[in-house]
Amino acid sequence: MTSDEVPGPELGGSLAITNIGSLVTNDPERNGLLGIIDDAALTAVDGVITWVGAAADLPTDLPAAPMDVEGRSMLPGFVDSHTHVAYAGDRVDEYVRRMEGATYEEILAAGGGIYRTVEATRGVSLVDLIAVTMPRLERMLAAGTTTVEVKSGYGLDIATESGIVAAASALGMALPIDIVATFLGAHVAGPEFRDDPEAYLALVNGPMLDALADRVSFVDVFCDPVAFDVGQAHTVADAAARHGLGLRVHADQTGRIGAAAFAAEVGAASADHLDHAADDDLAAMAEAGTTAVLVPGVSYSLRTPYPDGRRIWDSGVTVAIATDHNPGTSPVETMSFVISLAVAGLGLTPDEAIWAATRGGALSLGCTDRGIVAPGHLADLALIAGTPTDLAHRPDRTLVTTVVKRGMVVGGFEL
Ligand code: NIG
Ligand code: FE
Repeated sequence: MTSDEVPGPELGGSLAITNIGSLVTNDPERNGLLGIIDDAALTAVDGVITWVGAAADLPTDLPAAPMDVEGRSMLPGFVDSHTHVAYAGDRVDEYVRRMEGATYEEILAAGGGIYRTVEATRGVSLVDLIAVTMPRLERMLAAGTTTVEVKSGYGLDIATESGIVAAASALGMALPIDIVATFLGAHVAGPEFRDDPEAYLALVNGPMLDALADRVSFVDVFCDPVAFDVGQAHTVADAAARHGLGLRVHADQTGRIGAAAFAAEVGAASADHLDHAADDDLAAMAEAGTTAVLVPGVSYSLRTPYPDGRRIWDSGVTVAIATDHNPGTSPVETMSFVISLAVAGLGLTPDEAIWAATRGGALSLGCTDRGIVAPGHLADLALIAGTPTDLAHRPDRTLVTTVVKRGMVVGGFEL
């Protein structure tokens, strides 16, 4: 997907920013993973970066009056490549029960977990779904996220799945944040089909996808011991392919059933979670170009062991990190907190975590036009009070002070 295909409000500002103490470019043409330029400046025209370099070399014919950011650090806006942000209700009581010893799997098997959020989401109007989702996205934007993937999957019937996708689309038009929509009808078998998952998948892969295919960019399947097996996931992959849609896979989260290997085999855009993926699975993903989307907020919230992010990064796969914001397994909205968890829990270095939260996320969504600060890329930027490393080192502080989306200052400007 290119930025032209992500629907959204007309944005396209021109600006010049100077006195950037430390600019994370992620530009492979520059030094180090993050391609940092000290004492930097940049310009953008119509939402696209036109010049990047040392502040001392800033051209004189500027597209706008220069904005002096007083030595703060700047990086590409975060790309949150895995969320379930459009839902109603909450499940804080399940969090308390888990901390008392119950497991996620037990709660789901008893009809709680995802099923409770499905019931709550089916019970609200589209207007109310938009109303409860909007502040979550506003907080994400204020915390520096400029592109967010939004999955359906809490409807599990045609009307509610359509409503979730419609809410995502409406919010992407209303807010200065790009929303990439993913159809996750194959989250778990709908409550009416718990004894007949094959019949449910026939609905998902047939009429449900027919209704939604032209409004989403990806199809997702939860391929896991508690959801669908690899054979069932193949039917979802086939349906996605019939509609020309890319595939994302919730893969091997609660146990290893071959989901990551399946994702690689069918050429999925991403395999996410990967708690139980083995070296062979990772090698196959690297070979296939399937990105790994790691979601450490889930391990944090479930109090389960973190996947070995160090091993995953070293396998050669492209790594993204994401919030996986949802009401059951990850309450996290803030990508800087995910960066910190990725270092503390997954074993990435601070630089790797920053890259995975920006360029890695963009690549996992196929959005090659962002996550890099270089001419020709979107002017999606986050300004922070501190060094880039502080994003990992100081998770208790709110560091993002200003957010720029397609060249326009859209939030938090307080210089
Ligand atoms: O990414 N694993 C499956 N889906 C979500 C959780 C959904 C829920 O529990 O509500 C996840 O963790
Ligand atoms: Fe998820």
